[in-house]
Amino acid sequence: MSEPRLHNLGIILNGVTGRMGTNQHLLRSILPIIRQGGVLLPSGDRIMPVPLLAGRNPQKLAALSAQADGLKWTTDLDTALADPAYPVYFDAQGTLPRAAAVARAIRAGRHIYCEKPSAATTREAYALYRVAQQAGVRHGVVQDKLWLPGFRKLKALLDRGFFGRVLSVRGEFGYWVFEGDTVPGQRPSWNYRSEEGGGIILDMLCHWRYLIDNLFGTVKSVNCLGATHIGRRIDEAGREYTCTADDAAYATFELANGVICHFNSSWCTRVRRDDLLTVQVDGTEGSAVAGLRDVWIQPYGATPRPIWNPDIPQAIDFYGGWQKLPEQQAYDNAFKAQWECFLRHVVAGEPFPWTLLEGAKGVQLAEKGIESWQRRKWIDLPELKPIAAGAQQAVESAPSMRPGRKPTRRKS
Ligand SMILES: NC(=O)c1ccc[n+]([C@@H]2O[C@H](COP(=O)([O-])OP(=O)(O)OC[C@H]3O[C@@H](n4cnc5c(N)ncnc54)[C@H](O)[C@@H]3O)[C@@H](O)[C@H]2O)c1
Repeated sequence: MSEPRLHNLGIILNGVTGRMGTNQHLLRSILPIIRQGGVLLPSGDRIMPVPLLAGRNPQKLAALSAQADGLKWTTDLDTALADPAYPVYFDAQGTLPRAAAVARAIRAGRHIYCEKPSAATTREAYALYRVAQQAGVRHGVVQDKLWLPGFRKLKALLDRGFFGRVLSVRGEFGYWVFEGDTVPGQRPSWNYRSEEGGGIILDMLCHWRYLIDNLFGTVKSVNCLGATHIGRRIDEAGREYTCTADDAAYATFELANGVICHFNSSWCTRVRRDDLLTVQVDGTEGSAVAGLRDVWIQPYGATPRPIWNPDIPQAIDFYGGWQKLPEQQAYDNAFKAQWECFLRHVVAGEPFPWTLLEGAKGVQLAEKGIESWQRRKWIDLPELKPIAAGAQQAVESAPSMRPGRKPTRRKS
């Protein structure tokens, strides 16, 4: 038997000084992978990421490098993309510059991994998928919620048939994001400006698309009402600004298999539930509520029989009738888990279904959600067709080198 090999894999991490780039991707994914000795393959070989931190601000990059074992950094993306030492390009920039940068990286022959939304419009997102397939590069989009312990436990319940026939799914996502006047805001101000790629519909419906498609069935139609509940906020520099993007979305999704999903997403709500995101699944044989980590179940036989009578105190302890699932295995950080899958895909060709096509479907749901809001109508989702790798088809509207176009958004 041959000796196990170490596959060094150069990765450009662009936008790494941002919130997601620094915390989830560098500090909680790539660095821990390096520190654990890389990603083990079934052959006994290991993949060792060799990151290059990329961005626009040298001071921020140098400070982050100092925090991260002195990793190399650059502000010269073109030179980095031309360097064969870095076959992978990762993008965690803000949403608008992403499509053009990813298109450049594909043209340079790099494998692609990027944050969601993969682009600001379905046209751009699907074009990225097409050029990546044509170029024969490997590609993926962050779909972190699939690796959260709560949703992995929920998937196991679904796979074991716990629910019987699934009837409906109700998602509640959100928390109060402070306006920034008396208490500092906890999200970047571009989130509240549609001209900078902000808005909760674009941000969250991408997540709901892959979560629903992977767990409950293919999304067929959307009905969405957006709102800008808070009209003015204070930015990072202490300046007041007008919010032009939606900060709440009330969306219903109809699935091809008849399951009905309703997801509320809001940055203007106060939490009185088990977690920042909870998903309740009701089925003929039982129900479950999944939070980010924990899942509570109520099988048919333990279902209380309530009778409406507000004239007397409630006799049933509704929370008490649910059982919390025990910890049966350890779960790694969700972003790290998906990174490891992607690295195995690039080096060992392991399957990786969470591609730029799936990313484009997420953008499509957001775009159709906005259209539904604007037109006050149910909107069906046309199929985004898969393309064979290396297929030489005409690529219409491939994203240019220009920064991304701003999505059309109505002000409420
Ligand atoms: N997967 C998830 O759960 C999740 C959660 C939050 C955000 N996101 C996504 O991650 C991305 C980054 O979000 P964030 O919250 O880290 O934002 P952020 O503002 O903290 O970081 C964005 C980074 O991109 C850089 N950037 C912005 N505009 C640029 C431009 N024109 N050219 C080059 N660099 C530019 C910024 O300097 C910053 O470093 C967004 O696309 C967002 O949708 C994903």
